Amino acid sequence: MSLQEKHCLVTGGAGFIGSHLVDKLIEKGCRVRVLDNLSNGKRSNIEHHEGNQSFEFIEGDVADQKDANSALADIDVVFHLACLGVRHSLSFPLENQRTNGTGTLIICEAARQTGVERFIYCSTSEVYGTAETVPMNENHPTKPSTVYGASKLAGEKYALAYHEAYGMNTMVIRPFNTYGPRSHYEGDSGEMIPKSVVRALAGKEILIFGDGSQTRDFTYVEDTAQGFIAAAESEKMIGQVFNIGSRFEISIKDLAQKLVEKVGNADVKMTFTDDRPGDVLRLYSDPSAFMKLCEWLPKTDFEQGLDKTINYFRNHPFGIDKLNQLEIGRNWKI
Ligand SMILES: NC(=O)c1ccc[n+]([C@@H]2O[C@H](COP(=O)([O-])OP(=O)(O)OC[C@H]3O[C@@H](n4cnc5c(N)ncnc54)[C@H](O)[C@@H]3O)[C@@H](O)[C@H]2O)c1
Repeated sequence: MSLQEKHCLVTGGAGFIGSHLVDKLIEKGCRVRVLDNLSNGKRSNIEHHEGNQSFEFIEGDVADQKDANSALADIDVVFHLACLGVRHSLSFPLENQRTNGTGTLIICEAARQTGVERFIYCSTSEVYGTAETVPMNENHPTKPSTVYGASKLAGEKYALAYHEAYGMNTMVIRPFNTYGPRSHYEGDSGEMIPKSVVRALAGKEILIFGDGSQTRDFTYVEDTAQGFIAAAESEKMIGQVFNIGSRFEISIKDLAQKLVEKVGNADVKMTFTDDRPGDVLRLYSDPSAFMKLCEWLPKTDFEQGLDKTINYFRNHPFGIDKLNQLEIGRNWKI
């Protein structure tokens, strides 16, 4: 199926990955509607599409039936990305599951009522918990260690149940860690790479939660977004679950060192501080099934992707002082 001229809904489309997906869908000739409550998303991520006849923004809540029904009217394809994140889940587990679990069920039901052609559920590698074997393919056990991971897994199960019970053309994608421009440095959404870049650019120490031996498998955001499009266009993805990752593992400590070198300020130190509760210790993807089925390959290598990310923050309109005020260091509370 070609997505060209399809009417697509992107929930969470004002967010980091969602806004890049919106860019690619518009570029492809789709009509795009975004449903986002702007809890973590930013209008500035999508404002370059405002005024375009093919683009529409609805400020609303995925867990509100009325908002979901209006967002689904006349939609052909749903990309469901709206969520609340991992650190948020430590402080607000019930609110986190309301969006990630119940919100997904509500969007599934609204999509069934509309009769959509495709429903793409964006899950996460956090549903696996710490790797028991590597690289991790889709058959790796799912043992999430946070309410975020558990509620995203519930979302997967709802989406797949809609395929089994109602024949909805549902598919599930589990992206491993994603980085790039528009990634979150601020508040409890802040992720390791953007937080560290913002701190290093200001000459502040990089914070490492735990001993830094945790590993992650990073993919550049435009490659992740392109993966969603390839998935939606494939018949073979229906009813299936696939990883998107780079099959590349780096420790947080090595990554911090690399960022210090790239930012070019040798005075920046690393400070090791308390472990984050429920932190996953090892993630290393096997995305070979998805690569084969959808002929998808990440195009941006890690060095290039980090340079683009650093340049984005170096030239951010807020300036480095304001970015640093919004970056809050240890960003969870229990
Ligand atoms: N960033 C990563 O490394 C990564 C890795 C794996 C999976 N994912 C998944 O990718 C998707 C997008 O994540 P992201 O990193 O872009 O995060 P993000 O926070 O930038 O995007 C989520 C968006 O959902 C919106 N949202 C939150 N609650 C909502 C609600 N109740 N109703 C409507 N909108 C709501 C937020 O405002 C935000 O714009 C998520 O489903 C996440 O689980 C992200």
